[in-house]
Amino acid sequence: MNWRSMLFVPGDSERKLAKGEGSGADALVLDLEDSVPAPRIAIARSMVREYLGGHRDRAKQELWVRINPLSTDKALPDLAAITAGAPDGILLPKTTSASDVIVLDHYLCALEVREGVAPGSIRIIAVATETPAALFALGTFAGCSPRLAGLTWGAEDLAAALGASTNRDDDGNLDFTYRLVRSLCLAAAVSANVQPIDTVFVDFKDGEGLGRESRAALRAGFTGKIAIHPDQVAIINNAFTPTPEDIAHAKRVVEAFANGAGTVALDGKMLDMPHLKQAQRVLGFTNRR
Ligand code: COA
Ligand code: MG
Repeated sequence: MNWRSMLFVPGDSERKLAKGEGSGADALVLDLEDSVPAPRIAIARSMVREYLGGHRDRAKQELWVRINPLSTDKALPDLAAITAGAPDGILLPKTTSASDVIVLDHYLCALEVREGVAPGSIRIIAVATETPAALFALGTFAGCSPRLAGLTWGAEDLAAALGASTNRDDDGNLDFTYRLVRSLCLAAAVSANVQPIDTVFVDFKDGEGLGRESRAALRAGFTGKIAIHPDQVAIINNAFTPTPEDIAHAKRVVEAFANGAGTVALDGKMLDMPHLKQAQRVLGFTNRR
């Protein structure tokens, strides 16, 4: 399963939990971390647990949970409260390296058994660029856990951790540090053979800007993007779904290589293995829901 769109839903908001279901997002990420104020965390845990239990059919929409960072005393109580609801996966914020993923894997092994949830069924996506130390560990994720399904990145918490007053330059573009970590996250995910998922676009009223950023992310190699508002979902799904023209062209490229040649000509242009790989990737996208 690939996720084009993953919509964050604050775990303590009844209205937003209700709205998320019809949003069309490939996955919801029920949040127990930053969008939930500390005094409401207990209620958020029980609301998320209840929501998971009430939505067992995940064929159309997976349900993930963002827990609190492992470095806090909230992470284990988060997991203990929600595992019985059999979430499809855990989004792990402020991951410092693959060793965090391994620790979470072990916690899940124990909790799945305790709660009668299928062993190994709960996957993990790590937010891999939120702390300065994490940037030096992006190469550690390959093979760390069979649960690891994706990596994503964040520019907001990293900026705060670095002491930056903003993560933007004078033109409003992401500053060099954050463009660098975006690229590193992409390479880290691909090298670990997991899905690279682009980060949030916070200006949820700017659909055009989101469309541009989503298409740029796809061109770069990302296979999905995080949403924070239901209005963003269709734009993201659209950007990460190949057009009929993309598919037709990809089929022609694959057919051109059908005779086993390493290099072929198509429409007066030379094509070789990278083009074939790219075409196969486009066709792979079409297998998504
Ligand atoms: N998930 C589900 N529903 C959402 C939603 C979300 N992320 N964001 C907004 N909605 C709902 C609202 O509840 C509202 O529906 P309602 O009228 O039935 O209550 C409708 O969509 C329109 O919302 P709108 O008024 O445009 O936005 P808002 O001011 O209520 O909320 C945010 C704006 C940014 C606070 C909200 O989008 C949000 O909470 N986003 C997620 C934040 C988050 O999880 N951050 C952590 C990851 S970075
Ligand atoms: Mg955060």
